[in-house]
Amino acid sequence: MQKFFINGGKRLYGKIKVDCAKNAILPIMAGAILVNGEVILENVPPYSDVLNMIEILKNLGISVLWQENNLIINARSIINSIVPSLLASTLRSSVFCLGPLLARMKSAKVAYPGGCDIGLRPIDMHISSLRLLGAKIVEKNGYIYANGENMQGSDIILDFPSVGATENIIMAGVLTEGITRIFNPAKEPEIEDLQNFLNSAGAKIEGAGTNMITIEGVKKLCSTKYKTIPDRITAGSYLLAVAMCGGEVEIDNFIAHHNHALLSKLAQSACQLDIEGDKIKVKAKGRLESIGEIETAVYPGFPTDLQPQMMALASISKGYSLFVENLFESRFHHVPELIKMNADIRFKSKVCVVSGREKLYGAEVNAHDLRGGMALVMAGLVAEGYTTISGINFIDRGYYHLEENLAMLGADIKRMEEVD
Ligand code: UD1
Repeated sequence: MQKFFINGGKRLYGKIKVDCAKNAILPIMAGAILVNGEVILENVPPYSDVLNMIEILKNLGISVLWQENNLIINARSIINSIVPSLLASTLRSSVFCLGPLLARMKSAKVAYPGGCDIGLRPIDMHISSLRLLGAKIVEKNGYIYANGENMQGSDIILDFPSVGATENIIMAGVLTEGITRIFNPAKEPEIEDLQNFLNSAGAKIEGAGTNMITIEGVKKLCSTKYKTIPDRITAGSYLLAVAMCGGEVEIDNFIAHHNHALLSKLAQSACQLDIEGDKIKVKAKGRLESIGEIETAVYPGFPTDLQPQMMALASISKGYSLFVENLFESRFHHVPELIKMNADIRFKSKVCVVSGREKLYGAEVNAHDLRGGMALVMAGLVAEGYTTISGINFIDRGYYHLEENLAMLGADIKRMEEVD
């Protein structure tokens, strides 16, 4: 087990480049199951979620190799269609294998997924949608047993625009005869990226990012090379870290319109943002103005994946801020930890009221999930004194070289082995 050790209070200066998006890479890796040939994914950071997904693919008999920073996946031959519980429990995205396995192998046995503990996270919409495509599905002993012999394109209306369900249906529809239409799909940029990747391999999908996605089934997908979009949540996290600590940092590989909700909130504070092409320069000094009210929502609303980091900023901004978490029931695990660092936060059910403090103080805190863990790192960077953060395996799921990047900007942060 490892932990971060941070000596807070340093301003951040310099330049940083955002890595490819974890939430785009993971469904695309599952999408590679559909491809009868080689998929080259360029510049893939070895997030621990990616490493776990590699193990899942290898267990299916798929060849996965690193060639420098590129990930080469070859699913020409697949020897089984089982995702066992031990592997599925390592990440939520294991459930993305269900749609592609059904479409390509006509059968799948996939254990219920694991992932960060931020709420119930059911997969009922994934299952009911695949049933609408004709899949026969039985849920038994922690596994989903699915048979896709008689799948046929169909119209699917999602009750809620679930990111994962939209991605699973797209992948199931790609090799399924006929036309599949998804009404009320998720519109996140990662959905469009999945569409673009699959189309680059010969799929016929259109409409990602709109209110209806149409998938025309094709017989086969072929080899392709693809680079995913930059990680908008990582970019947002660095932006917020600079806003909190003060300093001046240029963030490269930044797609402004993917972060519109964050940028419009930050514009209300006294933080200076200059965007030029795919770069953003953030400049901040002193405590920022309150960021007011944050309600998480589906894209293009304020992302739930930036709620904890935004709350860390609010905890040292001037005045009150109100947070409403609408996506996940238990996404406030960072709150008691921030309180240990002197944050003034009251919470009930899905609402938090934050009264900004002049200062946070270093403490021993524990990360309980990926984004909440990042919020603690940010609090540690700004706090007076020393902070140690345990549970950083959660942070490694979706941030690569975090401590090196922050140290390059002037932070005093080290990764250390945890000793009992
Ligand atoms: C994805 C992201 C995650 C992000 C989330 C919301 C990946 C790998 N993960 O997660 O980082 O926080 O989108 O932007 O891309 N729901 C159901 N039944 C279902 C599916 C979802 O009730 O079958 C509910 C969930 O419990 C949650 C809401 O729908 O309350 C949103 O979930 P969803 O959009 O599916 O998120 P994920 O795909 O799990």
